[in-house]
Amino acid sequence: MAAFNIVDHEYDVVVVGAGGAGLRATFGMVQQGFKTACITKVFPTRSHTVAAQGGVAASLGNIGEDNWAWHMYDTVKGSDWLGDQDAIEYMCREAVPAIRELEHYGVPFSRTPEGKIYQRPFGGHMRNFGEAPVQRACAAADRTGHAILHTLYQQSLKFKAEFFIEYFSIDLMMDPDGSCRGVVAIDMATGTIHRFKAHRTVIATGGYGRAYFSCTSAHTCTGDGNAMAARVGLPLQDMEFVQFHPTGVYGAGVLITEGSRGEGGYLTNSAGERFMERYAPTAKDLASRDVVSRSMTMEIREGRGVGPEKDHIFLHLEHLGAEVLHQRLPGITESAKIFAGVDATKAPIPVLPTVHYNMGGIPTNYMGEVVTKKDGNPDSVVPGLMAIGEAACVSVHGANRLGANSLLDLVVFGRAAALRCRDTLKKGEPHRALPKDAADRALARLERLRNANGSLATAQIRKNMQRTMQNDAAVFRTTKSLQEGIVKLGQIAESLKDIKVSDRSLIFNTDLIEALELENLMTCALATIHGAEARHESRGAHAHEDFPNRDDETWMKHTVAYVDENHKVKLDYRPVHTYTLTSDVKYIAPKARVY
Ligand code: FUM
Repeated sequence: MAAFNIVDHEYDVVVVGAGGAGLRATFGMVQQGFKTACITKVFPTRSHTVAAQGGVAASLGNIGEDNWAWHMYDTVKGSDWLGDQDAIEYMCREAVPAIRELEHYGVPFSRTPEGKIYQRPFGGHMRNFGEAPVQRACAAADRTGHAILHTLYQQSLKFKAEFFIEYFSIDLMMDPDGSCRGVVAIDMATGTIHRFKAHRTVIATGGYGRAYFSCTSAHTCTGDGNAMAARVGLPLQDMEFVQFHPTGVYGAGVLITEGSRGEGGYLTNSAGERFMERYAPTAKDLASRDVVSRSMTMEIREGRGVGPEKDHIFLHLEHLGAEVLHQRLPGITESAKIFAGVDATKAPIPVLPTVHYNMGGIPTNYMGEVVTKKDGNPDSVVPGLMAIGEAACVSVHGANRLGANSLLDLVVFGRAAALRCRDTLKKGEPHRALPKDAADRALARLERLRNANGSLATAQIRKNMQRTMQNDAAVFRTTKSLQEGIVKLGQIAESLKDIKVSDRSLIFNTDLIEALELENLMTCALATIHGAEARHESRGAHAHEDFPNRDDETWMKHTVAYVDENHKVKLDYRPVHTYTLTSDVKYIAPKARVY
């Protein structure tokens, strides 16, 4: 192996990723007095959280009565009963103090006339256990993620967290006893390799939307942390549950917030019909996302799509008036103009369901600790390793996430990880020596890829993968599409052996970084399509046309997928937590999910 220029670091805690979850954890750790590094492949305020638009859910009750138990009920129902109820209870209860904290940290929320945080209706948010829509999504116009991310970064700087910016994390360092000892990263600007020793490594690398062709996710959403966990033999959970957001701009995939329907926007088909009234008589356009995305797809399939190809749907905002659009929805008004050429004050926006969020990820408990099956215990903690945010599967979103519960997940579980370290870790504890081969896997991977001299460009293999996922693991799936998809994706994964990386340098080699990212995406895509093929029911975002009903008896369980370095996938299952943390709320038993 070539000689690498290696720099060693020692920290109490290393956080990988600087989106909402990573930053909330980072400054939470420093606040507790831990020596903390945050490693990020992009400048923190360019992390994908910046693109979150409509709001962050919390039952503040600023505009009408609300209650965290109602929020919990909606989240369990939204998850189609695949969410762990202990974790959902924790998130919905902690939402209120977590948002108040954000307010005090300086998030510039929009305000009601009385000066309270403005809250808008969002899909699946209801009052009194499903009775009628409630205003629960706390919003900073339609730039809520932007406002939160910048505030969290400012707090991190205030608390003097140490940032390693434009460092790409390659692999985890593990002990033979199964504990995590830190992470190996490359400084992309200089090509220097860094071994970060840490008592706790927190994966906060976000989702893997870019496994699909059309998504609202940034190009950086490549499942890096998920794949790092898979490469050390840890499972990925519930990866078959991929959320399609109903309103991506047709042809561009850019997000038009659900908050636009919260403010009164609605969808129509080619007959000008508000078709959601047929599919969800109570919530209508504010049913949960899986329901709306399926309804739109049905309309298009049955020939009622709009446009020359009858292949999309209209979102109407023009009746809201320029003033409301300017005040509440300025960002998406601009996106509609730029990406669809539409003046939203005058004409409807062409939209189509677009991949938006991964409910699956690295399994954790509600304190952010990574769990795996050991000695028959499915909830056994992996020492030294934590995961939070979209990279994790706590599981609070189950089979379908409610809008505005993602920003909430980031701040609640970023904070929870810091609280867990406060309770379980001593500051400045000395580090044991690393195993001699701790960085070998990462370095061998780097060496293999930078010398890859095959015939296929990274972009070509990536496009093949994205097309297959888009066609065969879409809003609706069938046994045929999934089985064909598994065969095709297997061949595409094999074609990685023929990848060509055109530049051998370690210094600012974007071709090499994209190849590393592609391998990570492939791991996630394989877990997704295999988990989907095996799940013979329909639940939340997994709509299997050959098995159209939810089957609680057989399938109310989490999928765990192990993906090895030869792209072989092994599936196992673990029970859903059907208990609550406290006696304040009771377990919510499964029932039919109607909106
Ligand atoms: O529609 C939106 O504004 C997206 C929010 C979310 O995914 O939580």
